[in-house]
Amino acid sequence: MNIIKLKDIFLKFFEEKGHKIIPSAPIIPENDPTCLFNTAGMQPLVPYLKGQPHPEGSRLVDVQKCFRTNDLDSIGDTTHHTFFEMLGNWSLGDYFKKESITWSFELLTKKLNIPVEKLAVTVFKGNKIVPADNESAEIWKSLGISEKRIAFLGEENNWWPNMELLGPCGPDTEIFYWRSEETVPEVFDPEDETWVEIWNNVFMQYNHEENETFTPLKNKNVDTGLGIERVTAILEGYTDNYKSSIWKDVISKIEEISGLEYDNSEYTKSMRIIADHIRAIVIISGDNAGIKPSNTDQGYILRRLIRRMIRYAKKLNIDINSNWEQELAVLIINEYSKYYNELEKNQNDILETLKNEKIKFNRTLEKGLKEFEKVIKNIDGDKINKDIAFRLYDTFGFPIELTEELAKEQGLKVDTEGFKEKFKEHQEKSRAGSEAKFKGGLASTGEMETKYHTATHLLNAALKQVLGSHVHQKGSNITAERMRFDFSHPEKMTDEQKQKAEELVNKYIDMAIPVERMEMKKEEAIALGAEAMFIEKYGEIVSVYKIGDVSLELCGGPHVKNTSELGHFKIKKEESSSAGVRRIKAILE
Ligand code: ALA
Repeated sequence: MNIIKLKDIFLKFFEEKGHKIIPSAPIIPENDPTCLFNTAGMQPLVPYLKGQPHPEGSRLVDVQKCFRTNDLDSIGDTTHHTFFEMLGNWSLGDYFKKESITWSFELLTKKLNIPVEKLAVTVFKGNKIVPADNESAEIWKSLGISEKRIAFLGEENNWWPNMELLGPCGPDTEIFYWRSEETVPEVFDPEDETWVEIWNNVFMQYNHEENETFTPLKNKNVDTGLGIERVTAILEGYTDNYKSSIWKDVISKIEEISGLEYDNSEYTKSMRIIADHIRAIVIISGDNAGIKPSNTDQGYILRRLIRRMIRYAKKLNIDINSNWEQELAVLIINEYSKYYNELEKNQNDILETLKNEKIKFNRTLEKGLKEFEKVIKNIDGDKINKDIAFRLYDTFGFPIELTEELAKEQGLKVDTEGFKEKFKEHQEKSRAGSEAKFKGGLASTGEMETKYHTATHLLNAALKQVLGSHVHQKGSNITAERMRFDFSHPEKMTDEQKQKAEELVNKYIDMAIPVERMEMKKEEAIALGAEAMFIEKYGEIVSVYKIGDVSLELCGGPHVKNTSELGHFKIKKEESSSAGVRRIKAILE
């Protein structure tokens, strides 16, 4: 069963059960500054899980592009990926546990022909918010899952996303598959890693608000997620995801380029890392948000992915200056532009980004070698200490193995243990950082953020007035304290233009214009001249926000009810963002 078939079966199955197929949201969340990447199918749907009606109705199904930074350092094993695709179905206050569980079971056993004997499930054992989920357990039993294959687990396992993150959440039931040729044990042991989780059905009934309050949501929702990479491998009979048809071509290409074999355990891990990272790199740099390698946010992750991939390519003795990374990228672009047509459109950008970053990294490595030579001249004793080893890693991108190798040539040792400790500390810090971002992403959009959302529409309209109709939104970034707005314009704005734009926005605010939300067919919205950053990502029915005669934009919201709520708008800075794109930083006072 290849990826196309799996997606097709899943989408059609739920379509027949009354679900509308919606397109994947971009991997870079729009209008959500607190979150670097979409990490789950539900993330772009948060406003709807919270009760806003979805233009396509109350039953949805999709394939969502997801990226999880917290998995970056575990890449190289058989099951983890940074970028992955998630199949999901949603009930927005429509059906609940019975249908959700019954359909998951039907799809797995009847459409994907997974034997019941290979399945086991977990259900929530209860906490102070909800009692044990006996209802789900009974449904599973009625379908033929034996009691011995049902485990009741606590908050750490069966509450999604977890008890700390803010936003929509709830107890879940997870489905596991026995991934082995060995006889399936009668009793399910959730600790045994041969049981791999394949599908998660979350019963999203609460909104976790600040100060640990769990308020019931307006609707009882269902949110499910099934990882395509894992399930494809299972259906094709592999215990290593990278052996499945999803990865076959890219692994073969890496074998061809390096002249080495994947099955030689010395090279397996490096090949997996290269395969995983090149796919993530293509998807991230191919997003319409135009992410480039940098030292912050998504750009930083992109840089780390590219550099980490190059380091592992070096381990395979690939000639870094050859076109190897371009060949791999083209392979991925060809494969995935079937689903995500922005990749084809942005192909040149993707390839340029890779090439430029490779050149930069090579220069850094050269500098690192010089630094290394300097270091060993002044060394005390015969050991490179942990601080130096870490600086070579952190500043010059030297993997510890490279430092060890070079040290050995000079008859020196390295404090590898000390390095590893320091590395771990660093990792924990950056993980805390990315979790904080994730947390923000699922958090409720506060009052100030909502105001800033509306302000971006007004600024977009004002800039068109002042600079011309070539102005289009290229991105935005909002916190409770300020907004950032990127737009197409070839040159620096003059002081006069900035002042005019600011005055216009304040005029719109003073005019106290109602902000109206409408639903219409996408064609209709386009015909009306509605602004849209990524028209292709929207489904057939779209939500459009109209601010009098000032602005008409496709947007999921949320927005204030009237422009008068915004206060006073002030531009703090206007600067270059990237070629042909300017950036305005502004506040509401
Ligand atoms: N949102 C749930 C998950 O990502 C389905 O596992």
